Amino acid sequence: MVTEELVPSTWGTFWDHFGETLVRLLEIKDGSNVLDIGTGGGANLYPAAKRVGETGSVTSVELCEHCVNKANGEIQRCSISNAEVLLKDACETGFPDSNFDYVIAGFIGWDDYFDFKKGEFVADDVLTKEILRVLKPGGYFGLSTWLNQEDLDWMKRFLNSHDIECRTNYHAEHEEGWRIIMKDKGLINLRFVVEIFYYTYPSVDNWWKEMMDYNWIEDKENGEFITSDIKSDARGAIKEHMTGDGGVRFSRTAIFMTAEKI
Ligand SMILES: C[S@@+](CC[C@H](N)C(=O)[O-])C[C@H]1O[C@@H](n2cnc3c(N)ncnc32)[C@H](O)[C@@H]1O
Repeated sequence: MVTEELVPSTWGTFWDHFGETLVRLLEIKDGSNVLDIGTGGGANLYPAAKRVGETGSVTSVELCEHCVNKANGEIQRCSISNAEVLLKDACETGFPDSNFDYVIAGFIGWDDYFDFKKGEFVADDVLTKEILRVLKPGGYFGLSTWLNQEDLDWMKRFLNSHDIECRTNYHAEHEEGWRIIMKDKGLINLRFVVEIFYYTYPSVDNWWKEMMDYNWIEDKENGEFITSDIKSDARGAIKEHMTGDGGVRFSRTAIFMTAEKI
């Protein structure tokens, strides 16, 4: 009897798209032992588990307990036998040295360690150190990060036009900065790929809900300054991004880096 393959539930949309891209760019070999940093919705985890096959394994570490439980639930529901998610800080994994053939990190953000605007370190980069400690010589490190999130830039400009000084809500992490972070770390064959993905929110409500999931002013609830008048203005102004069938279309641009450990 042919049974339909169970598909794990993820965050979907651009997360899945960019997760697939990162795993594809790394050309992960059958039977490999992979560490996935920051499970989130599993955008890297599930494609990696597929790539390594029955004889390989993927271990994913995540700080958010809800994400860990959700992903482990999906792993069980879909009978994925070669993956597990652990509640662990990627900066201190406790795994042995040179344990993994690949380490992948999707959209973790390095701003705790590096200021991409100034091009300098702001703290000891314990995350990169830990990644390179657990990666085997000859193993590959791959990451994805944001270069541009058009929807978040739009929202910031819109709020600014209503005299609301707010944050950008993401850090653009460009190739130049990554080359500085990775310099003298024992990596070779650094490769960068940039990809733009156009995404259509199914409706204005859906787009607005996503925007309100971001905290636009530190230590303030959005509801304290985004009044019903401002919300109504936003719904008018967003028309420039609307598709014929009521969706809201924006682009997100990611940069991918892959490198081999000497
Ligand atoms: C933006 S999400 C991306 C998830 C997924 N990798 C993807 O590409 O779709 C980043 C995730 O990394 C997790 N994270 C950030 N820093 C971490 C760390 N030091 N250790 C483990 N997880 C971390 C966050 O909790 C969050 O769920």
